[in-house]
Amino acid sequence: MDSVGVTENANAFSRRTALRAMTVTGALVAAPAVFALPEAQAATSTATPAAPAAASTPQASPLLLRQPEKLGAPPVDGLHLTFGADPARQMTASWSTVTPVGNARVRFGTLDGGYGREIQAEVLTYIDAMSSREVYTYHARMQDLNPDTSYIYAALGDGVLPDGGSFTTAPVGRSAFTFTSFGDQAVPTTTWTPGTGSAANTFTSSLNGLASPAAGDIVAGIEQVRPLFHLLNGDLCYANLTPDRVRTWNQFFANNTRSARQRAWMPAAGNHENELGNGPIGYEAFQTRFALPTNGSVDWEGLWYAFTVGSVRVIVLQNDDVALQDAGNTYVSGYSGGAQRVWLEGQLAAARASRDVDWIVVCMHQVIISTANANGADLGIRQNWGPLFDQYEVDLVLCGHEHDYERSLAVRGTVSGSETLTPNPVSTATTAIDTSKGTVHMVLGGGGTDSPTNGEFFTDGTGKVLTAVGAVGSSGKKTPTYVSEEAIWSAFRDLTNPYGFAAFAVDPGHKPGGQTTITVTYYNVTQPTGEIVQLESFTLVRPRSDG
Ligand SMILES: [Fe+2]
Repeated sequence: MDSVGVTENANAFSRRTALRAMTVTGALVAAPAVFALPEAQAATSTATPAAPAAASTPQASPLLLRQPEKLGAPPVDGLHLTFGADPARQMTASWSTVTPVGNARVRFGTLDGGYGREIQAEVLTYIDAMSSREVYTYHARMQDLNPDTSYIYAALGDGVLPDGGSFTTAPVGRSAFTFTSFGDQAVPTTTWTPGTGSAANTFTSSLNGLASPAAGDIVAGIEQVRPLFHLLNGDLCYANLTPDRVRTWNQFFANNTRSARQRAWMPAAGNHENELGNGPIGYEAFQTRFALPTNGSVDWEGLWYAFTVGSVRVIVLQNDDVALQDAGNTYVSGYSGGAQRVWLEGQLAAARASRDVDWIVVCMHQVIISTANANGADLGIRQNWGPLFDQYEVDLVLCGHEHDYERSLAVRGTVSGSETLTPNPVSTATTAIDTSKGTVHMVLGGGGTDSPTNGEFFTDGTGKVLTAVGAVGSSGKKTPTYVSEEAIWSAFRDLTNPYGFAAFAVDPGHKPGGQTTITVTYYNVTQPTGEIVQLESFTLVRPRSDG
């Protein structure tokens, strides 16, 4: 644990490996006054005239800022929300600043009660290995919330202009709600690219990472649906491809905060969250910037985790652990030594045994199904996750990685004798699908990159599967071996539109042992206006587990 700076009455700043040090203060503080005024303004805003003696002797007040924002305290940057392990009672507000801020905290309360509670933020930092810049992140974990209740909150710090939002906690028990999902977003802004050689001290600007304007439009689209929460299926902003990772991450949150400050955005780490030199396996930026439910590990917190909303158990995985493809800054396949698989099986067994859980939804990045001539499906994921998804009847798997939209028929097991472990379709249904018979996979990689693959679909009914990797080639990556397969599992592909996201409306049903449904709607984010247009809708159905 490295203590890198402490300010008066402020948070201890600690690196990722530090022990959690969150403290709760001032519960039910009376007369909340969140938006403290700068000194000059406060002095003229007093409702009751001060006594003459006091007027000439300024008194210290907790409402006065010790360092007015105008003097340079960095603003709250990229405010966003994530669920705790219990989304009905726990929500974390996170943000970052470019320089340290003291006394970072959140005030929060209900709409009718005001900002009556205050909690100190946990402060985590990391040093970006490329730029040697330290990044300061703050995580205020709001606890003991009431289910299905709306809250307002504000992020504060000494001398910092407050920033805030609102959110609604998850319901308890079987309830109707909607969530959304996409992956592979990028950031629709520009960054500086340094020159080389004699031009090393000059910079040119270029679109950041793999961005398109859709990476911005899609956030407005999510806000039209207004889901209870959003799943972000990896390859968030491609910071590992940009010349300024820190700027890219900051711009990613700046782009998404208009939605992510109002509802939890729950991310999976993809191969482009793997950043050379940032932590032992490259995910330190992701792990530091997101506060996510614990998985009980020491080194891999945030990379896999689970939470329950209503009767839906969501399990988020980190697929570079089992994928064969070499697609990050470093090749880390097998990094958990099987620990993630053990955790996953425990999660799946518990979820499927529960009478409170109907649906098991997996969110991950790299795919088990694809008919795009891009990355292709990955045999490592098929080998490691496929049998568990079958055994515990996972209903829905949401991915990214391929920059297009595709979904599978309900699949269970593999085609006998197939070298690629081809998923075996159990039904030809495409509009009303019983997921107790087979798992539906959805590729939702149209989040906004400038390199969509909807034009790269094979048109002869085949897909390709990465079955092995060899020595490092001229690209600097391990050379892949691909094997073609008959894509008998493919149900629908969007060949026309590059961008979009899916919304999932959960109907818990009406009686024990009856049916529950999820109505899935896929929206295109259109060019050039950015408007969302419904492409297709279909229904998943399964029996409730409380029969
Ligand atoms: Fe990817």
